[in-house]
Amino acid sequence: MSGTAPKRVYLDHAATTPVLPEVVTAMQPYFSEVFGNPSSDHSFGQEARAALEEARRAVAGFIGARPGEIVFTSGGTEANNLAIKGFAYANRYRGNHIVTSAVEHHSVLESVRFLAREGFKVTVLPVDREGRVDPKDVARALTPRTVLVSVMHANNEVGTIQPVAEIARITRRHGVCFHVDAVQTVGHLHLAVRELGADLVSLSAHKIHGPKGVGALYVRRGVRLEPIMNGGQQDVRRRAGTKDVAAIIGFARVVRLISEEGPESAQQVAWLRDRLLRGIMESVDGVWLNGHPVERLPGNLHLGFDGVDGRVLARNLDRRGIAVSTGSACSSGQSEPSHVLTAMGLNHRRAYSCVRFSLGRGTTMEEIERVLEVLPREVERLRLPASAHTGS
Ligand SMILES: Cc1ncc(COP(=O)(O)O)c(C=O)c1O
Repeated sequence: MSGTAPKRVYLDHAATTPVLPEVVTAMQPYFSEVFGNPSSDHSFGQEARAALEEARRAVAGFIGARPGEIVFTSGGTEANNLAIKGFAYANRYRGNHIVTSAVEHHSVLESVRFLAREGFKVTVLPVDREGRVDPKDVARALTPRTVLVSVMHANNEVGTIQPVAEIARITRRHGVCFHVDAVQTVGHLHLAVRELGADLVSLSAHKIHGPKGVGALYVRRGVRLEPIMNGGQQDVRRRAGTKDVAAIIGFARVVRLISEEGPESAQQVAWLRDRLLRGIMESVDGVWLNGHPVERLPGNLHLGFDGVDGRVLARNLDRRGIAVSTGSACSSGQSEPSHVLTAMGLNHRRAYSCVRFSLGRGTTMEEIERVLEVLPREVERLRLPASAHTGS
């Protein structure tokens, strides 16, 4: 129909995703019908507690864990803080050395920086040009004082998948705890905690069409954590505070929906992502791909555009109704270039030339076509000499 504005295109699923209608429906009764405090002993509390424990079973089952190994948190940030600070404090008597990588999410990097100020020793491992940690570097970094290694499953900016199973074999051999931030992979890639061999795994619901403000930490049975939130007995004293039952129900609903879905959905997302990459490569010169070409998240496409400021390109695309990002939602708006890109060896100029397109389950071919229609012209406009913009 002529005169109708094109529908907006959302390609920032790595930042967050829309909550599925089935999830909203499942959450609804838990605001004002089943509203009891799950810690209360009366029937209202018991009803809420039964629902909470059922949700715990669903989330645990989804990653091959036992229900007692799931601690519900307010999201991935809290799960990472609890894993790192909680483990370090509880195991300080065994050693004070922590190993992590240069491309971790800020909630990991800031947690280890915090511990460094408290007297812990921290080794931050480098990555290669594709953003991968070398497991041999992990092995070399371990000392008799090392208690914890924290390496993410896949990177939120460039989508690179880390060799976490190999790293787990090393940490297990040395009796060191292994924490994996799986916020970007749970629900997108197969993840079975026992197969993987991790001791602590962070999850978040809002990256997979669940509600914001809820996540979980898998804590392998026998792993000791000091709570970072003190107050009540909830979650076997590992995380005090009244649970957001509705959000947890939403989290459980979404993992059930994903388990019913099968692998085709991720394959479809990867197919559209590859279609977008091909289309851009065919229509725009001076483009490069960041991250690993194969070992990457299905929905992630992180590109650099020679001679273009990625922040301006993202802003201009937004004006045309296309939402993309220049990095993680938490660091966009900062003036420093992305720590992930600089760790991969990009200089500041190249790091500022990048844009992340992150596709999701709802992304359609029409949306990809719309991006391919708009993007080449926007890139070209930004590459024109300044005089051409002003017409002088
Ligand atoms: C890899 C990674 N870890 C942790 C987080 C934080 O998760 P949340 O937004 O649930 O606090 C994010 C969110 O962007 C992430 O991408």
